[in-house]
Parts: sequence; structure tokens; C-alpha cells
Amino acid sequence: MYKYFIRPILFLLPAETAHHFSVGMSKFLFKIPGIPALFKALFQVMHPSLERELFGLKFKNPVGIAAGFDKDAKMIDELDAMGFGFVEIGTLTPAGQDGNDKPRLFRLKNDQAIINRMGFNNDGVRKAVERLKKRKSDVLVGGNIGKNKITPNETAIRDYLECYDHLYEHVDYFTINVSSPNTPNLRELQEKEPLKKLLLTISEHNKKQSKTKPILLKIAPDLTKEHLDDIVDIVEEVGIDGIIATNTTVSRECPSTDWKRINKIGAGGLSGKPVAQKSTEVIKYIYQKSDGKIPIIGVGGIFSAKDAQEKIAAGATLVQVYTGFVYKGPGLVKSINKSLISK
Ligand code: FNR
Repeated sequence: MYKYFIRPILFLLPAETAHHFSVGMSKFLFKIPGIPALFKALFQVMHPSLERELFGLKFKNPVGIAAGFDKDAKMIDELDAMGFGFVEIGTLTPAGQDGNDKPRLFRLKNDQAIINRMGFNNDGVRKAVERLKKRKSDVLVGGNIGKNKITPNETAIRDYLECYDHLYEHVDYFTINVSSPNTPNLRELQEKEPLKKLLLTISEHNKKQSKTKPILLKIAPDLTKEHLDDIVDIVEEVGIDGIIATNTTVSRECPSTDWKRINKIGAGGLSGKPVAQKSTEVIKYIYQKSDGKIPIIGVGGIFSAKDAQEKIAAGATLVQVYTGFVYKGPGLVKSINKSLISK
């Protein structure tokens, strides 16, 4: 149904228009009595063997929607009904911001990939909180947080703490995003000293709350082994709860797309099939380096149950999808979950 009817229509539209159109359509459809129940019946897979306990949270299944799809927390109930076990909202910043100029989202159909340079366009953390208060579903929600474009790296910590404070009551875990290629200099926060300072400050702040929330770090797929070693050391030393591997790549390994088109598209992060192997390698490396002690959420190029199982075999406990969901629709979530039911 998605592949033969919905996707061909959506793919006639420019990528960002298609995204807004599908969000709008889902929200409209979900207001019709019976539709939410129909989606649940069609896509949700419930089975005790799909449940996962991680960082003190109980996930009803291990497949989440990755950050960036529902930046502003508009679709939590709908994504729950489409079968996801958790929803990561964001990246949110303290103030709302427009992001980069359009066009900034491009499909590379032949490579089953996307290039985006959205630049943390979002309504700001306060608006997200208002929406979170109205959600009906009890699906687990992660708050992916970042800094505003105009905030210099020297004071970025304040932005992360501001987002943390606003979201604290309303999300189940936090993701510290220092790996988006689309906010100038953001990835410098992945360097050893700034990263340690950032994570230490957030972790100390977290410990001051009545109840701590799990803190995860989202990393790029483009890091060297030495850099990954530093990250594993810092995560263990500071004692945060896990790693999300990975964000989009700045590399351009798209064998089936004309290089002239790639050049014309310009800057941005590449996601989908071309990032799958890189992200699996990062997962495997972190898993081995930490003796399996750091919980990992695996994300990058998952388009099938087999792809998800590869991430799990590499060391991930949970997985997330974004580009695969755009290309395959909610049937992908169902097929992964069905494949993971242990008989
Ligand atoms: C993203 N991604 C992303 N990640 C993040 O931490 N914060 C964000 O705001 C966004 N925004 C975003 C927008 C778009 C259009 C895409 C395609 C991706 C990255 C995403 O969460 C994921 O890590 C990568 O896309 C790799 O997974 P897939 O897409 O290959 O399944």
C-alpha cells in the first residue's frame, strides 16, 4: 500500500513539502473515529519477547523513530499507533529557529538515501513542552537537545541545560546532540575536552534532580578510532547512560547518483543506505571497546528486518529508523518487530 500508492504520490512533491503533507494528512486522518484503532491493529506488534529494559526504562519494542522526523513533538500519538516502541523528538533548541534556507532536503532515490541540511529548524523547546503535555499515548519519548545557531560554542552548555530543564518533566530520556553537520561548529563539541565538560555539567545537573533521567550521547559516523576511544573513555568516566550511533555522514558515498547532482546539492548530512555500514562499524567498535558495557541505540540505513538485526548483532540493544521509514513506511517497523519475536 505505502510502496505502490502513498510513496509515489509523496515522491512527486519536493521532499520537505512531502514531509509536511504526510504529517498533516496523518493528523487529519487520526481525528476520524476508528482510524487510530485501525492503525494500531495494522501496525502495532505486541509480544513479551519484544520488550526491552534499558537505563531503567521499559520499551514495549526496540524500534524507535530517530530524531529529526518529529522535531516539534507533533506526531507522538500517531507514531505510537504506527508501531514504534519509542519516539525521539528534536533536535530542540531553547529558542525556535527557522533553520537553513530552502531547499535543504533532497532525496537520492537511486541510492535510497537523503541529504539534509535542515539546521535544527524547530519551534523551540517551550512549544514542544506544550504539545507533550497534550499527548495521549504513553509511548516512551526521548528529548534530543542542541544549541541555537547564534549561541557560540563557549556558552553552548547553557542551551543544553535550558532544554533539559524545560523537558525534564515531560520526557523519559535525553539525547545530547553534538553530531549534526548542519549547525556551524557544533561537531567541535565532540572533541575530547569540550565534550567532557559538556557531559560532566549535564550529568551533575541531572544528579541534582529528584530523579535522574537517562542521558545519551549521539555521535557522528565520521569519527576516527582514536576519537571513538576518547568518547568511550569520557562516557565511562562521566557515567552517562548510553550512545546513539549514528547521525548522518558528511561523506558522499552514493554510487548510484550522478556526481554532478551531488555537487549541486552541496552541504548536508547523508542518511539511508550509504550510511548503514559505517554506522554498524561504529556500533561494533564501541561495543567491543567498552566490553558491551555501554548501551547502544543503533541507527543508520535500516531498511529491513535484516538491517536491524545486523545493528543488534553489532551490539545495539535498540534501533531507530528515519530514512528507511520515509522509503518504506510503517510496514518497516512492523516487519522488524515481527522478525524479532522469539518463538
Ligand atoms: C536527521 N537526523 C537528525 N538527528 C538528530 O540528532 N537531530 C536532528 O534534528 C536530525 N534531523 C534530521 C533530519 C533529516 C531530514 C534526516 C534525514 C535526519 C539524523 C537521524 O536521526 C539519523 O541519525 C540519521 O538519519 C541516520 O539514520 P537513517 O536516516 O539512515 O535511518
